[in-house]
Amino acid sequence: MSHLPISPAAPAAPAAQSTSEEASRATWGSRLGFVLAAAGSAVGLGAVWKFPYVVGQHGGGAFLAVYLACVLTLGVALLLAEMTIGRLTGQSITTALRMLSGRGWAWVGRVATFNAFAILSFYVVVGGWTVAYLLRALTGTVLTHDTATLVSEFSAFTANPVASLTSMGAFLGLTALIVAAGVQKGIERAGKWLMPALFLLMLMLIARALTLPGAMAGVAWFLTPDFSVISGGTLLEALGLAFFSLSLGAGMIVVYGSYLPKDARLAGSAVWVATLATLACFLAGLMILPAVFAFGVAPNAGPGLTFITMPAIFAQMPFGHIVAVAFFLLLLFAALTSSVSLFEPVTAFLIDEYQWRRSTAVIAVLVGTFLFGAPAALSFGVWSDVRLFDRTIFDLMDYVTINLLMPAGGLCVAFFVGARIWPKARAVLEGSRAQWFVPLWRVLLLVLTPVAIFGVWYHSL
Ligand code: TRP
Repeated sequence: MSHLPISPAAPAAPAAQSTSEEASRATWGSRLGFVLAAAGSAVGLGAVWKFPYVVGQHGGGAFLAVYLACVLTLGVALLLAEMTIGRLTGQSITTALRMLSGRGWAWVGRVATFNAFAILSFYVVVGGWTVAYLLRALTGTVLTHDTATLVSEFSAFTANPVASLTSMGAFLGLTALIVAAGVQKGIERAGKWLMPALFLLMLMLIARALTLPGAMAGVAWFLTPDFSVISGGTLLEALGLAFFSLSLGAGMIVVYGSYLPKDARLAGSAVWVATLATLACFLAGLMILPAVFAFGVAPNAGPGLTFITMPAIFAQMPFGHIVAVAFFLLLLFAALTSSVSLFEPVTAFLIDEYQWRRSTAVIAVLVGTFLFGAPAALSFGVWSDVRLFDRTIFDLMDYVTINLLMPAGGLCVAFFVGARIWPKARAVLEGSRAQWFVPLWRVLLLVLTPVAIFGVWYHSL
């Protein structure tokens, strides 16, 4: 079972320990299992919550085009790079970088792990919203097509400190439970039917959304790029969202890649993960933006967009009550498979680096995330006036982690794989059918990635 080509004496994988008696590192049950687990991490609130509202704020089709360009180039190259690091070492990112290249690089791993922690801290705020909306769907209180009511209810809920902290705590607790139980079996199994179910439900909801009167204006707005609206800020958001929706730049894919069996086809897996994540974003856009236009909601309404438009769609459907429950349940599961993938690398870091027991590490991450996330939750209400650089605490955490730290992590990984360990990285793809991609991969890592990231930063900061 063990596949530690570099150092057989390296500490065993944390996630594997809870399920296996032997000290060797477990692997995914199959390549499909890995692809689904990685896609389960990628497909989450980023697609269904963040993508539609960011498209809404940044002018529709043009944003979609830039986003797609980022995913297809940098996105695929960096997914493959992170998988390669994991596959070569069988370790989480900090340990992996030190093993391959010494102490200095371990700091990159530490920063990436901190970034996962910081993202988790605001991710659980929105995760809490899905818990609360699931309860409202169950009781039926959310079903109204009066969007003004939905807007004011959303603001009242997020502004209420007790309600938002409790639901955030519930979501965080669920995440910690899954991680404590050992993620592998659970995540691998859950991915196999939850993801298809989410996609099917989205298709059904798209059908309803598209037949609303006035919906076609939203479709046209989403699919017709108007490049004149693109600013430096738009490019930065599209780049950041590409990283976020693929779970890149925070060492996450390294950890999942470290469980890959030796014979796995990496390039194919990277393309699959990117395709599923992009498809989820695209479907979410088609589901929400037409409804935004049909109901006359402002497209730039911000983080509440999904929670305001979806209930209005449910209210106008046969069996809307059941559909609402199914939707928020699937959204909750999608969010959990993603938050687990943010929680796990931080836990793995504490175990790998400091030899903490798994249970201690889980409790530490749980408490730390709650304390770090609480200000973000409160910034929708009692602390909404606390502003730094003209942003609320939540917005600031979102901006710094997604638009600055994730691309920075990506830059380091690109240089590391494309230059520092290139012979080893290339060897990993030996024998694969994707030979033609190898030189292109290196160009993407060493030329396009730095040019795009520095270019976008230069234009927007
Ligand atoms: N991709 C997830 C989403 O879209 C968020 C996420 C999960 C993530 N794991 C990550 C982002 C690791 C960065 C790094 O909802």
